[in-house]
Amino acid sequence: MLALLVTLQSLLRPPPPRSRGLAMRGGGIDIGRALLDAALSSPLYKAVLVPQAQRTMVETAERNGVPWRDALDWIKARGPWRLSEDDSAVAIPEYYRRPFHAYEQGNLCWDAAWEGEIASRAAFRGAFDEALASLGAECPAGGSLVDLGCGSGISTRRLAAAHPQAGSVVGVDLSPHFLAVGRRLLELEEEERRRWVQPLEPDGRISLLHADAAATGLAACSVDVVQLSLVMHELPPAAAGDIFAEAHRILRPGGQLWEGFSKLRSNPLLFSLIRSTEPYLDAYADWQTAEGVPGGGPAAALAEVGFGRIRLAAATGRHFALVCSRPLNGCEPDRAVDDRRAATAKPDTHLKTRKIAQLKAEMAEAEASGDLDRIMTLMGTLLALEGGAGTCVPYPFYPSHQ
Ligand SMILES: C[S@@+](CC[C@H](N)C(=O)[O-])C[C@H]1O[C@@H](n2cnc3c(N)ncnc32)[C@H](O)[C@@H]1O
Repeated sequence: MLALLVTLQSLLRPPPPRSRGLAMRGGGIDIGRALLDAALSSPLYKAVLVPQAQRTMVETAERNGVPWRDALDWIKARGPWRLSEDDSAVAIPEYYRRPFHAYEQGNLCWDAAWEGEIASRAAFRGAFDEALASLGAECPAGGSLVDLGCGSGISTRRLAAAHPQAGSVVGVDLSPHFLAVGRRLLELEEEERRRWVQPLEPDGRISLLHADAAATGLAACSVDVVQLSLVMHELPPAAAGDIFAEAHRILRPGGQLWEGFSKLRSNPLLFSLIRSTEPYLDAYADWQTAEGVPGGGPAAALAEVGFGRIRLAAATGRHFALVCSRPLNGCEPDRAVDDRRAATAKPDTHLKTRKIAQLKAEMAEAEASGDLDRIMTLMGTLLALEGGAGTCVPYPFYPSHQ
C-alpha cells in the first residue's frame, strides 16, 4: 500500500507549467485539471482512489440522512433478481456497454440498478417542474406521457404524480436491471413502500418498457409528451440525435418534448471526477454549449429533426429545462430559439458556501503537505455534498465496487 501511495503522490505532484494554465476555473480547489487527469488515468486509480471516495461518500450520505447501506440491503432482499428471456431480444448499442459510474458493466448490472435511486436526490426536481411550466409545458387530460431513459422509474413516478390528468405514463430504458427494480418497487405493499428512499405510490397508469430510446417500437404520432430527464449527458451526441428523432416520430403533431439537463462544467473538480466515470460527458458538455448556436448543439439537433418553438430556462443555478414542440400538420416549425437562461439565471446554491470555503482551505492544506489520504477524503466529501444537493450524477463512484 505504501508503494501505491508513493506512486500516487508522485502523480499528484504540481503539474508542469503548461498544465498550470488549465488550473480549475473558480479557483479555490486548486488542483489543476491535468494533474487530476493524470491521477484518474493511473491504473492505481481504481484500486485506491475510487474505494476511498466511495467510502467517504457513503459515510457522508449517511451522516446527511440517506440510509445508504440499509437501503441497499433492503432492496437486494426484495429479490429474487433475475432477467427474463425477452430482455435479450433488445439490441444494445455499443456505447451503452462501456463501463459507467465505476461499474464495469455500466448500467447493465444489478449493483447499478439497486443503487441508482439511493444515489439520486430529488432536491432539484421540483425546480425542473417549475421551469418547464414557465416554458408552457402542458399535458392534456387523458394524455399519454413517455419518459425516455427512466432508470428504475424515479422520474416516471414523479411525472405520473405531477400529472394526475394523464391517461398513461410509460417509462423506457435500455437496462433490464433498472426496469426489473422499477417494476418490483411498483408492486410493493404499502407497508414496504415506506421503507424506500424515494417517493413510491402505486399508480396503475405506469408501465415500464425495455427498449432503446432511439427505437422504442411505440406507434408514430401516438404520444402527447416525451420527457428526457437527465439522460442526454450519458450519451454520445450522435445517439442523442437519434433519440430526438424517435421522440419526434412518436409525438403527435402539437405534442411536446420536455428535457431537464445540467450545466456540467460549473464545478470543474467535480466535473473531472464525474468525467472519469462517464465516457461521453466531455463530448456532451462541448455539444451542449456549442458556440454560436442559440440553445447550444441540442437546440440545433432538435430543429434538424423537425422540432420547433424551442424554449429554454434556468431551473436552478446548475440545471436547465427545455420545451419544444412537434409542429401541427402542414405547419413549418417555428425555428426561433427562445433562450431565456440568462434572463432566468439563478444563484448557484448547490454547495453551502461556508462548507465549500472550509473544504477549499482544507484541500489547500492537504495539497501543500502532500497528504493524499486527506485529498481523497476531501474529494469524496465534495462529491457527497454535491450529490446531497442533487447534481445530475450525484454519486459517480457507487459503493458496490469497493
Ligand atoms: C441518469 S439516468 C436518469 C434516470 C431518470 N430519468 C432520472 O431522472 O433520474 C439515465 C438513464 O438513461 C438510460 N439510457 C441511456 N441510454 C439509453 C438509451 N439509448 N435508451 C434508453 N435508455 C437509455 C440509462 O439506462 C439510465 O437509466
